[in-house]
Amino acid sequence: MLTREENELLTRVGPGAPMGALLREYWMPVVRSAKLEIDGKPERVRLLGENFVAFRATDGRVGFIDEACPHRCASMALGRNEGNGLRCIFHGWKVGVDGEVLDCPTEPEERRERFAKLVPTRRHHVREAGGMVWVHIGGAETTPPFPEFEFNMLPADQVEPLRGLMKCNWLQALEAALDSAHVAFLHARDGGKRGTDKTFKETGYMAVNKAPRFEFEVKPYGFKEGALRDLPESSVYARIRQVILPFYSLIPRLPDEPRLALCSIPIDDENTVQWYVRYDPNAALQQDYFDLFGTDCGDPDFFNADMGDWSNMWHQDRQAMKDGHWSGIVGRVNAYEDFVVQESMGPIVDRTKEYLGASDVVISLARRQLLKAVADHQSEGNVPFVTEEGEPIDYGAIRSLSIKVPSDQPWKQLDPFNPPAYATAE
Ligand code: FES
Ligand SMILES: [Fe+2]
Repeated sequence: MLTREENELLTRVGPGAPMGALLREYWMPVVRSAKLEIDGKPERVRLLGENFVAFRATDGRVGFIDEACPHRCASMALGRNEGNGLRCIFHGWKVGVDGEVLDCPTEPEERRERFAKLVPTRRHHVREAGGMVWVHIGGAETTPPFPEFEFNMLPADQVEPLRGLMKCNWLQALEAALDSAHVAFLHARDGGKRGTDKTFKETGYMAVNKAPRFEFEVKPYGFKEGALRDLPESSVYARIRQVILPFYSLIPRLPDEPRLALCSIPIDDENTVQWYVRYDPNAALQQDYFDLFGTDCGDPDFFNADMGDWSNMWHQDRQAMKDGHWSGIVGRVNAYEDFVVQESMGPIVDRTKEYLGASDVVISLARRQLLKAVADHQSEGNVPFVTEEGEPIDYGAIRSLSIKVPSDQPWKQLDPFNPPAYATAE
């Protein structure tokens, strides 16, 4: 439970809001690289309550500029993408990839160049990695360390970034990715007796023990969480999640499975992009996310486009529930279930009304760390989570793990890059 003030502080992300100011300090993925073609259609991007346009210029570079034309605010998303810039269709002003005005053909020729240089513009930093375009819109000359996660350093055939849209606040999206206790319920099939989520080979363990113990190790980037389920024969099933604040949750996976990172990027106070980044550090991905579920591939830029909303109760199937499907949200992929429960709380859930229990310690810890981060940023200008003893975080060394081990094996010492032999559920 939070106070009303704390909830406001954590959830408001627009310009001028304290959390908005903090989140503008970080690199954020905004659009799939493949979405942008050289001299092709620009993409509108709404981020932290502001409107931008992304485009790929003639030389292949990506521009990320304010949507409003610097002249009289027509949308640059309508612009002509040509000659390494976007030209506004209203009066022909041209903006380059760094947001600078390159041409103002409505001005007298002799003063055009000088005039163009005087037009105030904003520069946003851009990088491409992991099949995504990343931006830093903090306005600063220098940028924070780039999050060089494993998935940001791999060749294209080893990473699959997918973009889902949630009609709710970013913190609900993040909290959906921090909850190990729900898996045996929300994603249960066959009458709940047995979890058969096709993306989790190990759900049998979760069905045996539905009330995991949670332990933590606080880290400079957030925390490492062990959701521990005691199993018969002196063994324990450990789901070890890595939470890298403010945006990321690395979902526990068996050692030989492709990895999965979730990333919650605020569009505005009431809408969020939930990135699903699947990656295999060792080989090309054999199956895409939709293949895993035996469904057709949706739009990778909006993979839950057919999810529904309140008007159709997200297509919840009551007969399927009677037949053993726990949630009745029979979407093409399990992510729909996660998205629906979060949207059902309302655009910004009122956290003063919650009643938290033992399984909620994870979200409590994340909230405490975020509240402290906002306060420190407000008072000192600190940017937490990106450094460890003055050095940039080694993001490539952070990995999650899902594993069954003997009970006396300390989970905090398990190395996800070199795990012991494990057994999978039948
Ligand atoms: S509004 Fe864009 S050139 Fe005039
Ligand atoms: Fe889930």
